[in-house]
Amino acid sequence: MLITNIGRLVTMEPAVQREGTLGVIVHGAVVMDGDRIAWIGPEKALPADAVHGAATAIDAEGGVVMPGLVDPHTHLVFAGSREGEFVARARGESYHTIAAAGGGILSTVAATRAATEEALLATAESRAWEALRSGTTTIEIKSGYGLTVDDERKILRVVRRLDQTHPIHTVGTFLGAHTVPIEFRDRRGRYVALICDEMIPQVAREGLAQFCDIFVEEGAFTPEEARRILAVGRAHGLRPRLHVDQFHDVGGGALAAEVGALSADHLDLVTREGMTAMARAGVVAGLLPAASFFTGRGHYPPAKALVDAGVPIALATDCNPGTSPTLDLFLCGTIAVTQMGLDPDLALLGMTRVAAQSLGRAERIGTLGVGKQADLLLLRCQSEYFPLYRFGSSAVRVVICDGEVVWGE
Ligand code: NIG
Ligand code: FE
Repeated sequence: MLITNIGRLVTMEPAVQREGTLGVIVHGAVVMDGDRIAWIGPEKALPADAVHGAATAIDAEGGVVMPGLVDPHTHLVFAGSREGEFVARARGESYHTIAAAGGGILSTVAATRAATEEALLATAESRAWEALRSGTTTIEIKSGYGLTVDDERKILRVVRRLDQTHPIHTVGTFLGAHTVPIEFRDRRGRYVALICDEMIPQVAREGLAQFCDIFVEEGAFTPEEARRILAVGRAHGLRPRLHVDQFHDVGGGALAAEVGALSADHLDLVTREGMTAMARAGVVAGLLPAASFFTGRGHYPPAKALVDAGVPIALATDCNPGTSPTLDLFLCGTIAVTQMGLDPDLALLGMTRVAAQSLGRAERIGTLGVGKQADLLLLRCQSEYFPLYRFGSSAVRVVICDGEVVWGE
């Protein structure tokens, strides 16, 4: 398959004869062979045999072509919705008082436990279509609304089945340490033991996750518990990523550096020491602009200070029913640029190249080059900044996954 008449081919790989930090090839073309990119460059240099050999040709109509977006932090598999909690928060209740009263995460846990695997798959598929239409071709999905051995596995099986039944690529993360379930409220040590002794070994044995995550927060888990759980995860081949410093400073940046996390996410309250530790250890900051927007009453992570400290920034939707019910990564980019002061180039890199890096997949996705997975977007616009600028309205015209058109004309 061949794509021609590309006004701006945004490779996300700067090089000689390419424009700017996003590595733009003006008047570009792309050749795909199966699920890989076989050739990429200026259209005038396109090899003649590629043109003749192509079974299908797509006209980009002078628009932008860029890598499929990578959403490195979501909780996509869940049942129910929580607009009642949204209204309660708007009227003055806090995320923590709602959670302490058995609402919040626990209400989604009850609904998700009650749902069958098939029902969860059906809603997950429809959300995956929404993500794909918004430009996302790879999505990380966490468990964490099951909190029993069987319900956590049920969610992660849905993540795996989604990868097989839907064009989107999924990456599974075990988040049994999302919150302490009601039945363990007075014996949290027993729940931590259940995670370490049963959940992690089973999830790892069944190959259901690549990463182990934990919500370190008042009312959720402590840094001490995180160290123990992540060590067990690591011993079972699950690499750490973290939810930290969302509503309180829990020393999350330093903790992420200490445990060798691939990413530390949220970071609304990260300290200067935390940033320095992350930069030194190469931990990616997973910023979740829509979650800060939806819950934060104007408070955002210090994106500029993170950049100045040398921390790579990834952006994610955090799609979940409580703090961020969206799947629109470009919208997250708009919020990052306008509310956190993140440079638009860094926002675009954060939802492609750096997001892929934070999933340990930079070799295959997040940039366009020979040998990369052929996941790309054709946009209905002349500039790569347009989707950030024209927030709330999708500029995505065609989505290609593994070298096949999976959405659009
Ligand atoms: O990433 N912070 C913890 N977990 C989710 C929220 C989950 C929920 O409220 O259901 C988050 O914001
Ligand atoms: Fe999250």
